[in-house]
Amino acid sequence: MTERLNRILNHNLYKEYVWKTREAEQDRKFCRHDMRHFLDVARLSIILNEKEGLGEEDELLYAAALLHDIGRFLQYEKGTPHEQASFQLAPAILEDCGFSEQEKEKILSAILHHRNKEISTAPTMDGLIYRADKMSRTCYACDVELECDWDCNKKNRILMY
Ligand SMILES: [Fe+2]
Ligand SMILES: [Fe+2]
Repeated sequence: MTERLNRILNHNLYKEYVWKTREAEQDRKFCRHDMRHFLDVARLSIILNEKEGLGEEDELLYAAALLHDIGRFLQYEKGTPHEQASFQLAPAILEDCGFSEQEKEKILSAILHHRNKEISTAPTMDGLIYRADKMSRTCYACDVELECDWDCNKKNRILMY
């Protein structure tokens, strides 16, 4: 994996945000927003990029996946929708890790739209991250699926990759 992605993983702010969300989710029975989820989204987005032949850059998909839920703790603390919180927290990390303005723009757009149903089928990086995020969830094997408030068309009931 590239140096820039490892810089994200080792960034102090990144570690702090991931830790805060882990603390907030300790007793959560539904899906968590942890490193396993970030890596699942990253790898699925790369598979989908390949299968759909979209030609997006793997490194940018990976960066968006690592960062897309970093603001989740703020949703617990303050009620801020976490795609917006993540969108606000990510630029400082991306700047420190050597991403250009153009790259930052693409990554931030994918973060901001990862819960936007309107781009669910879009042949873009935003669409890939949206689809990978939903596909990463194992609703087909979940004991608390009936209690989960995700709407039906978001739930992942079929294993694909
Ligand atoms: Fe999310
Ligand atoms: Fe997510």
